[in-house]
Amino acid sequence: MRIIVGISGASGIQYGVELLKALKGKKIETYLVMSEWAEKLIEIETDYAPKEVKKLAIKSFGNKEMDAPISSSSFLVDGMVVVPCSVKTASEIANAHTGTLLTRAADNVLKMKKTLVLGVRETPLSSPALEQMHKLSLAGAIVMPLAPGFYHKPKEIKDLFSFINGKIMDCLGIENTEFKRWE
Ligand SMILES: Cc1cc2nc3c(=O)[nH]c(=O)nc-3n(C[C@H](O)[C@H](O)[C@H](O)COP(=O)(O)O)c2cc1C
Repeated sequence: MRIIVGISGASGIQYGVELLKALKGKKIETYLVMSEWAEKLIEIETDYAPKEVKKLAIKSFGNKEMDAPISSSSFLVDGMVVVPCSVKTASEIANAHTGTLLTRAADNVLKMKKTLVLGVRETPLSSPALEQMHKLSLAGAIVMPLAPGFYHKPKEIKDLFSFINGKIMDCLGIENTEFKRWE
């Protein structure tokens, strides 16, 4: 399975890092594209260097590399996840504003009617931001605010990452036991 992972410059950057690790553990082919602000947030919020995060993917591209394979919908993928997804990136995707590799790849996934999961991170949300998310949902994207549930009784921060990873994998049709399901 081939998945594009986009990481944009919203808080909660570790969600993106943990997802890459979990997908690697499942031998999923991941193609990573990070925005400039994502790289800065990695340095601000984590103990990783951007180059270490890039190594978690099969291949990593710069956000200005418009000639990368994932810039074309002829490069077949099973889906794409943007986590965390900033309001700016979500708005660009909602409006088919494809000025970066990340937003271009997301638009390709939408046009090919594949799964696009957007882990939007912002709180509270403005009316314009909510409108963009509504538009995205109508366009077929799955808007997944990074708001983990607590019914699996998380004990450590990693349990919150697992919850979101499990939900993302569920959307992509990847079998997983990342979190304890409600029964
Ligand atoms: C420390 C920090 C935290 C931020 N957190 C968020 C956030 O949670 N959500 C958001 O939409 N933007 C957040 N931003 C603002 C984005 O980084 C900014 O809008 C940027 O232009 C996003 O660009 P990108 O989507 O291309 O990465 C944050 C910025 C900084 C410096």
